[in-house]
Amino acid sequence: MTNAAITTQAPVKEVLDLKKLAAADNYYLVTPTTTYPELEPFKHVDVGHRADPKKASLYDNAEKIFDLTPNVGTEIHGIQLSKLTNQQKDDLALLIAERGVVFFKKQDINIVQGEDLGRHYGPLHIHNIGGHPPNHPYVLPIYSVDVEKSAYYPKIVRASEGWHTDVSYELQPPGFTFLKIDTLPSTGGDTLWSSSYAAYDKLSPALQKFFEGLEVVHSGKEQAEGAVNAGIPQRRQNVLHTHPLVRTHPVTGLKALYIQPGFARSIVGLSKRESDTILNFLYEHLAGGYDFQVRFKWEEDTVAVWDNRVTSHCAIFDYLGSGKRHGWRITTQAERPYFDPNSKSRAEVLLAQARSKK
Ligand code: SIN
Repeated sequence: MTNAAITTQAPVKEVLDLKKLAAADNYYLVTPTTTYPELEPFKHVDVGHRADPKKASLYDNAEKIFDLTPNVGTEIHGIQLSKLTNQQKDDLALLIAERGVVFFKKQDINIVQGEDLGRHYGPLHIHNIGGHPPNHPYVLPIYSVDVEKSAYYPKIVRASEGWHTDVSYELQPPGFTFLKIDTLPSTGGDTLWSSSYAAYDKLSPALQKFFEGLEVVHSGKEQAEGAVNAGIPQRRQNVLHTHPLVRTHPVTGLKALYIQPGFARSIVGLSKRESDTILNFLYEHLAGGYDFQVRFKWEEDTVAVWDNRVTSHCAIFDYLGSGKRHGWRITTQAERPYFDPNSKSRAEVLLAQARSKK
């Protein structure tokens, strides 16, 4: 199946104002017992290949665009995601692939426009267990008001255990996630993103070489079991897939370390002791990488768009008692992860660019 085949699905056009529902304490999420077959493989053609390398459609039309840190995160003012031209959508794909996560403030985009925008980038992912607004299975709300009801009840003990890339256990895991946060507690609820390009670059050449040949098992089983134990129906069978530990981004051609504690379980071919030790080392590497992270302090109605292939993220659940946090997410699937031995590291490319300017 191709992206085009998926995009012809007729979207449900009912627009629900989720922010308003959440403000009225209307816990609108449904968790139907509907079951879905396994996700079908499809040929992913990344629209970032069509982008203008200068991304002029964005840079020439924004009020302001600036990088939040050298390694990850860019903020854009003065552009509405609900009104992007096709060229802007394609240029955005390249910008996200390069910068990992891009933030848009003061956004008016609604869930139907979000679904339409997401379909430009790939088939929309339906979460295996997450509740959704009635008739909008592609929309995954973030609704943390009451720990008993919240789909995101933080069972993790330390925030650093929460690092993940979205549903990496799928055969063709996401590409992009669009997350609009429209309601915030009085304080707290920040989110961190980490650059997986820089996480790779910060390893020694010997370790980089060793990791390049390895495959990692990613599992959705534990997440689904947790939901089922909480009485939430599971809509697809458990999935478990192996992906390269170092993957290549199809548009930038750069190497990224594809690992996080959320769904990675073991390294293929190593003993349990070896695998656990290396995974723990990598999780420390990720959590301690302050020089390749951005911590974002949300304002209401901001949208973050990130590329799951080259970032991990971690939501900070520190706001119990500080009020409600609400938003919604659309996630697009992309290619099956692969490693191209001819791909380059971001550090190599940046160094070559810096030298050529001398
Ligand atoms: C997520 O982990 O996908 C949501 C992040 C957040 O709530 O900030």
